[in-house]
Amino acid sequence: MKVIESVAGLKKERELVRKMNRNVGFVPTMGALHQGHLSLVDSAAQALDYVVVSIFVNPTQFNNPDDLLRYPRTLDADLKMLETTGCDLVFIPSEKEIYPEKDTRIFHFGTLGTVMEGKYRPGHFNGVAQVVSRLFDIVDPQKAYFGLKDFQQLAIIKSTVKQLKLNVEIVPCPIVREPDGLAMSSRNRLLTDEQRENAPLIAQTLFEAVRRSKYESVQNIRDWVAQTIDQNPFLKTEYFEIVHEETLLPIENWEGNFNKVGCIAVHCNAIRLIDNVIF
Ligand code: PAJ
Repeated sequence: MKVIESVAGLKKERELVRKMNRNVGFVPTMGALHQGHLSLVDSAAQALDYVVVSIFVNPTQFNNPDDLLRYPRTLDADLKMLETTGCDLVFIPSEKEIYPEKDTRIFHFGTLGTVMEGKYRPGHFNGVAQVVSRLFDIVDPQKAYFGLKDFQQLAIIKSTVKQLKLNVEIVPCPIVREPDGLAMSSRNRLLTDEQRENAPLIAQTLFEAVRRSKYESVQNIRDWVAQTIDQNPFLKTEYFEIVHEETLLPIENWEGNFNKVGCIAVHCNAIRLIDNVIF
């Protein structure tokens, strides 16, 4: 497994891989890797000849400076984990490599970018689009793998690829969970023991909501989820929306032949957790 820090070095390696006619799969990450990330690497390795993983904590997508400072950085452990997978190359650029100049691009996503995460994390998705488009340009992958854990991010990335007419297939991958249901996340390691014990209520409530949706209205489910989570002293719901899988707009009833996705953000004190479930 190669480890490359510079854009120039990456591009050189990319040319060699191209000359060997090998197709590239790409998994962008911010590190503090867990099984969720590794599942994306496994999917990429099964489908393509050559797998690139990037680890870069992208400052432009952090709307909260404390969140950026606090974000876990565990490079040595990350590299050890990747050694056990089908990863061929790890790209660990510095901020200067990714942004030699300030990225001033402004993306427009319509309502995809203004609902839910877009509402509560202004500028976040613009930063995601900046970094992902920059990484796609450098890595030039045939396919790129993203987790459904960040459901709205996936919609934003598909929109970015379409807007920029990029030649890359976006592959969505299922959410990987802890045995108690908690969606795996780099931020989980910032939870205190007590918070960690209570956090699975988020996923467990979503699963119970799916069962109740067989006989309860959308409005009742919406209220019940927020109330159930907020009864726990460690958790505070920021939003819970049940949305159309493509428009991400809230639905009013269960009719219609499309997936309905329940998306939630919960504050566990200073740590913000997101999750979602398909109804
Ligand atoms: P990060 O949070 O490190 O996530 C990297 C990828 O792993 C994303 O596609 C995310 O959806 C996926 N992922 C995280 N937890 C997962 C889980 N429990 N199950 C399945 N997939 C999971 O998302 C980002 O980084 C950044 O925004 C990035 C796209 C790298 C741009 O900076």
